[in-house]
Amino acid sequence: TGYFTYDPGFTSTAACDSAITYIDGDEGVLLHRGYAIADLAENCDFLEVCHLLLNGELPNPQQKSDFERTITYHTMVHEQLAKFYSGFRRDAHPMAIMCGVVGALSAFYHDSTDIFDPVQRKIAAHRLIAKMPTMAAMAHKYTVGEPFMYPRNDLTYAENFLYMTFGTPCEEWTVDPVLSEAMDKIFILHADHEQNASTSTVRLAGSSHANPFACIASGIAALWGPAHGGANEAVLKMLEEISSVDRIPEFVRRAKDKNDSFRLMGFGHRVYKNYDPRAKIMRETCYQVLDRLGIQDEPHLAIAMELERIALSDEYFIEKKLYPNVDFYSGIILKAMGFPTSMFTVLFALARTVGWISQWKEMIEDPAQKIGRPRQLFTGNPARPFVPLDKR
Ligand code: CMC
Repeated sequence: TGYFTYDPGFTSTAACDSAITYIDGDEGVLLHRGYAIADLAENCDFLEVCHLLLNGELPNPQQKSDFERTITYHTMVHEQLAKFYSGFRRDAHPMAIMCGVVGALSAFYHDSTDIFDPVQRKIAAHRLIAKMPTMAAMAHKYTVGEPFMYPRNDLTYAENFLYMTFGTPCEEWTVDPVLSEAMDKIFILHADHEQNASTSTVRLAGSSHANPFACIASGIAALWGPAHGGANEAVLKMLEEISSVDRIPEFVRRAKDKNDSFRLMGFGHRVYKNYDPRAKIMRETCYQVLDRLGIQDEPHLAIAMELERIALSDEYFIEKKLYPNVDFYSGIILKAMGFPTSMFTVLFALARTVGWISQWKEMIEDPAQKIGRPRQLFTGNPARPFVPLDKR
């Protein structure tokens, strides 16, 4: 009953006004607050992009150092939170750990769950941006059985994350700047992407005035799926399964077969019907990292490049406008850097947190904000007489 627009998957429904991110999917354009993603990736560090998304403008030098000081002030997590990790099995997927521990932050910061106080909203955003690398690195350390590393505020955001992930208390830690810059670029490329599934989940959860930590935990849950952020993990698993260039045609054939549910992971996008501008930058970064690490003939890269070549010249992919997306090359870089496959989506969540919280803040501050409450086209039984148990 009711006269509602039927739009499964929200392919033609704008659920909000937003001034944060602009995408022209046909042209392959992505702008944050008006700035092209390529310019930001080339010229900014991740915290400048965080400032831009959250506050609307790139920081000037004073604002940049103030913002860095604010974020680093919040990098540690409460010691009690560290105990949460030990409740998980050692083989727990780190995304499962992240869903739990990020949601648990609301129990530690009752003050910043007051969503009607603009100061508290800002502190919650800063806490989340600051603590995600710490919590993500702890998820990794827990699963490999190494001690948690406290954050180091003398390092950059990306360096500190790499330090907490790969450093140990028993050795001095250094990082190649090419790798920390690549990490920073990966964070920038994932920072926001307008109303995708996880961001819409954060907005929907937040529309009931749930606290921001719980909302971000809901975004992490939505991101986990292989059709969304879980694709970076799925791409690498797929490349491993393909295992050699001569087996590619078999997988391409399966991807095109209507009766086979297999899809080429890392291809296609709801909005981009052109090359994903993030994928181009990711491919460049991939070459730089492999070159720096002296990795020649990376087997997955060879398969990925050939897969891309075939897909871009195949009628099926051309007709359906299926191009490589942001996740296609990121897994190869992350693997080369030493991340286990299960951490790939955690890195996406870490970087996307600023997008989620910026969108959440924008929504709460929008005077037109209402609780999200979609309707349905009812397809069940019409009203019918009740049948007592002994007559069924
Ligand atoms: N391989 C083979 N065929 C595909 C693929 C693919 N990767 N993606 C879409 N198609 C086909 C699909 O079968 C459908 O064909 P038909 O019209 O004959 O039914 C057509 O293309 C349209 O697909 P859709 O599922 O209706 O499109 P969508 O907009 O609902 O889905 C998508 C977008 C990203 C979920 C999908 O392309 C996909 O599953 N890709 C693989 C997973 C992936 O890489 N996801 C990461 C997305 S980018 C990062 C992020 O934002 O999270």
